[in-house]
Amino acid sequence: AQTVGRDADGVVTVGGVDVKTLAEQIGTPAYVLDEDDFRARARAWRTAFGPDADVFYAGKAFLSRAVVRWLHEEGLNLDVCSGGELATALSVGMPADRIAFHGNNKSTREIERAVEAGVGRIVLDSFQEIVRVAHIAQSHGKRQRVQIRVTVGVEAHTHEFIATAHEDQKFGIPLAGGQAAEAVRRALQLDGLDVIGIHSHIGSQIFDMSGFEVAAHRVVGLLKDIRDEHGVELPEIDLGGGLGIAYTSDDDPREPHEIAKALTEIVTRECEAARLRTPRISVEPGRAIVGPTAFTLYEVGTVKPLDGLRTYVSVDGGMSDNIRTALYDAEYSVALVSRTSDAEPMLTRVVGKHCESGDIVVKDAFLPGDLAPGDLIAVPATGAYCRSMASNYNHVLRPPVVAVRDGESRVIVRRETEDDLLRLDVG
Ligand code: LLP
Repeated sequence: AQTVGRDADGVVTVGGVDVKTLAEQIGTPAYVLDEDDFRARARAWRTAFGPDADVFYAGKAFLSRAVVRWLHEEGLNLDVCSGGELATALSVGMPADRIAFHGNNKSTREIERAVEAGVGRIVLDSFQEIVRVAHIAQSHGKRQRVQIRVTVGVEAHTHEFIATAHEDQKFGIPLAGGQAAEAVRRALQLDGLDVIGIHSHIGSQIFDMSGFEVAAHRVVGLLKDIRDEHGVELPEIDLGGGLGIAYTSDDDPREPHEIAKALTEIVTRECEAARLRTPRISVEPGRAIVGPTAFTLYEVGTVKPLDGLRTYVSVDGGMSDNIRTALYDAEYSVALVSRTSDAEPMLTRVVGKHCESGDIVVKDAFLPGDLAPGDLIAVPATGAYCRSMASNYNHVLRPPVVAVRDGESRVIVRRETEDDLLRLDVG
């Protein structure tokens, strides 16, 4: 867990650094990331799955050069889904064979770069991409290791926008109607491809393992059909990411070792039943590793009580640094961190500074009744899909990410400046 405490003055500390000093040094808003916590979570996943499986951190949750170095050091692999993520990984020497390349519409240029770099696998998402990647690999005189992404047709119990295994959405090739089997058939015939396995990702922020169980059952069924038809046993199966984290005290996430045990048991059992050799399993957690390791530090700007309703607390960021509340109705908690207070709690809504009434960071939260401009408040569990989905809406500058560890802080992604904005505006 994050090494969070309070010093003698009631100021919250993380990684041995107090938030008031941080705010003075780097300003607010800022994402404050506990490096030890990140490393511990990465290691826990790595250890839980052991040497016979692979853990690919999903870079879309949050990626920076420092993160890539930490992953490399902790023995994790990396899932990238764009040329930008690939470039970030390669720029600090992540070995290409430990990178998986995802996406439902990779450009020709992106595929070429991935093939040239020698990525460990490209996850193929459509019939057209099967041919495209085979062609590019061949023209580079290579045989590219690939997995085929299938949609297994399960309804993951999560927000519609982040569920990915039901059939009516853009990712993967449906198992239904023999389409996935046909995709494998075609891929196996192409010289440029080395088909190493099947990929399934059922969605995100999931707590219930039953979706994974159904997915594993159906993917193993496909492996069996492939064996029966082609006489080949594909050596790998990737069950994707999607394991949920606690945003509020209502959420009860599983530990990596429980997840590893459950997934390994499911796949082993299904393979035994199908008389298949158990394939090498891989997973792609993003949120579960980085999500809990960071909080967003904001300064309170205005406090506006609305009689009989609630008190609106405006902070110096908002939907540009955390779009999740507006986009997914996500729930967060919030705490006063620059001092303690004995004042009666008041019902608040924490909102940003954007020109939009949906610009809500925390929908319902209790904060001390004496909350005042200048107080620092923190929203926990913003490590995943906050900085990585940040925008410049209203020309607001994207906040920095500061890593804390052993009483030291280090900016790993700097704050955007007005010069950064204006540099792109060349008209
Ligand atoms: N693997 C694949 C193929 C994925 O598409 C994703 C997430 C992951 C792994 C990692 O999932 P995780 O373990 O982080 O849940 N922006 C949304 C989440 C979108 C997830 C997209 N794909 C959010 O803020 O909740």
